[in-house]
Amino acid sequence: MTDLTDLTTRLPQELKIVTDQLPGPASAALAARTSASVARGIAPALKAYIVDADGGVLVDADGNSFIDFASGIAVTSVGASNPAVVEAVREAVGHFTHTNFTTSPYEAYTAVAEKLNEITPGDHEKRTVLLNSGAEAVENAVKIARNYTGRNAVVVMDRAYHGRTNLTMAMTAKNVPYKDGFGPFASEVYRAPMSYPLHDGLTGPEAAEQTIWQMEKEIGADNLACVVIEPIQGEGGFVVPAEGFLPAIAEWCRANGVVFIADEIQAGMCRTGDWFAVNHENVIPDVMTTAKGIAGGMPLSAVTGRAEIMDAPGPGSLGGTYAGSPVACAAALPVACAAALAALGQMEELDLAGRARGIETVVREILEPLVTETGGRVAEVRGRGAMLALEFVDADGHADGATVKKIVADCQAAGLLTLTCGLNGNVIRLLPPLVIGEALLRDGLTVLAEAIRKNI
Ligand SMILES: Cc1ncc(COP(=O)(O)O)c(C=O)c1O
Repeated sequence: MTDLTDLTTRLPQELKIVTDQLPGPASAALAARTSASVARGIAPALKAYIVDADGGVLVDADGNSFIDFASGIAVTSVGASNPAVVEAVREAVGHFTHTNFTTSPYEAYTAVAEKLNEITPGDHEKRTVLLNSGAEAVENAVKIARNYTGRNAVVVMDRAYHGRTNLTMAMTAKNVPYKDGFGPFASEVYRAPMSYPLHDGLTGPEAAEQTIWQMEKEIGADNLACVVIEPIQGEGGFVVPAEGFLPAIAEWCRANGVVFIADEIQAGMCRTGDWFAVNHENVIPDVMTTAKGIAGGMPLSAVTGRAEIMDAPGPGSLGGTYAGSPVACAAALPVACAAALAALGQMEELDLAGRARGIETVVREILEPLVTETGGRVAEVRGRGAMLALEFVDADGHADGATVKKIVADCQAAGLLTLTCGLNGNVIRLLPPLVIGEALLRDGLTVLAEAIRKNI
């Protein structure tokens, strides 16, 4: 069932381009200032500069209203100016902006930890640590797993993305732009094959057998602290592993005393139609990392896991100056909590997991016919919930990043922001805010479908 009724929004939910060309003059002036002042390693995808955002739209400095199929890379699931979040942030900063939880604690941190312990899979006792960014959460998850197991090795998957810090660069697969020229990287990080049904033709258990064989032969379970997996790969191409892959890897980890870490930073928090992507196969990770969607746009991340693992590092060994900021925690509470700071949990109140499933229905209805229509140049529409993607190949079946570039540029010229992913840049990913209304979603998909037809 699709229930994507329009929610009450501050800004009109419309695609409206009012300037003769994009970017308009105000955005062009800002872009000139940016290139004169900001390092070129920071390269904005959208050429327009945003002055307002709400629901499924981004409004730029020239008054153009874009459809947002990016959500700040899977962050603003509840909307970029969700009223409950805005109110919680206002209330929090009116009292204090910072104390540092490890010097002078506050309730919001503990309340977020309690909520994450409750909603992450498994009814065992759990503990949570809050940090700022996704990469920081991954770093801490690995630190904790190493400390608990007394082992060093870390296994990550082909095509994985875990961040841009030194350890997480080592864990990330794609060279350009994430790693090239930035080495040397952290040691004891090993890469293993990950199920990719479109290309490997293996069942989940067959793919897992390969992965396990490699881990046993090339590393040895006794040396392995943790396996870190994105249950649906994000930057790596929105790859959903074949059914049975994740449970088999989790089971092998359990049998061998290896910590199974699910990196749910992009896929978690209702994005895939359930609280977490692992829930679709009833996999219970030992440790989970979350970030992005958990605090309505405020910087917050978390590591949640089995109490005995999380409590291995001693007092004072985890933390950071801004980790679990009171303002970010205050924002997270109305996003996820049923009754916190007098605001209802937006993810539950608005049934954002249900809306994610509704988004999937509409996207598949409009985009799946393109697989046949393009003679397989759109090789696959895949993903779960509102974490969906299209993989493009050329007439010979090879990855077609060049066509994807043109499609994304045409979308942007028509007022739709989309992002790419995949090692070959040949995947367009769709990450609309989960609060997007059906009419706007359909408008955006129409723009995308037209751009695909024009370029293929
Ligand atoms: C699966 C996954 N892990 C980790 C990260 C890193 O998060 P951050 O950019 O907040 O450091 C990302 C970011 O895209 C991600 O998708």
